[in-house]
Amino acid sequence: MAEFAIIGGSGFGQIKELEITAQKTVQTPFGEPSAPLAFGRFGGKEIIFLPRHGEGHTIPPHQINYRANIWALKESGVKKIVGMGAVGGIRRDMAPGCMAIPHQIIDYTWGREHTFFDRQQGRVVHIDFTDPYCEALRASLIEAGQRAGVELISDGTYGATQGPRLESAMEINRMERDGCDLVGMTGMPEVALARELELSYAACAVVANWAAGRGDGPITWDEIEASLDEGMEKARQLLLAVI
Ligand code: HPA
Repeated sequence: MAEFAIIGGSGFGQIKELEITAQKTVQTPFGEPSAPLAFGRFGGKEIIFLPRHGEGHTIPPHQINYRANIWALKESGVKKIVGMGAVGGIRRDMAPGCMAIPHQIIDYTWGREHTFFDRQQGRVVHIDFTDPYCEALRASLIEAGQRAGVELISDGTYGATQGPRLESAMEINRMERDGCDLVGMTGMPEVALARELELSYAACAVVANWAAGRGDGPITWDEIEASLDEGMEKARQLLLAVI
């Protein structure tokens, strides 16, 4: 049985070394996940892969069924999830092409189904979220990166925005004052839902662009896709090393 799952984000809709052995469409009490779960072998191990934005990258960040995705992975028996995602860089060393393993998160999203513990569950549960990411899994990723010679930044506060639009320059200034180093649209509620179901979760954030107001002029999706190719290659090597 697979122990690891990878949730792929923008620029990471498939993994070239993944030999898919089965695809399973699953239903959950919260609806259908973004795509059928892809079961396969990667780096000699069984894993499950799920493209967060759907098979043809059609689901925008605010319409992803995060609950169905995490529930489906829990039901399939995985214990550890690495969530891949494209981000904008705010901190000076978070330049396009870099990869970071965030250690903290600030949630600016709204209106998303963000918990399994609503009234239907019949009890009130408040999970601890002091350290939102699994420290053991973060340490494995960082150690695997060092072992495989894959350059990465071993910390970072991820600011999760609602999207799908990018931010204004002043919103990024405010986020920087709050302590954010990176900005992305899918970090929440994914990591909190994984914690609610007691799954180990770490994120691998690939910097695609300078955040709004930090680079020269407007941000284009073409620019984002171009630097994602470089960053995602690093991410693939890191995943091979950790798995
Ligand atoms: N902002 C939010 N999400 C992103 C960005 C950004 O600049 N780049 C890639 N995903």
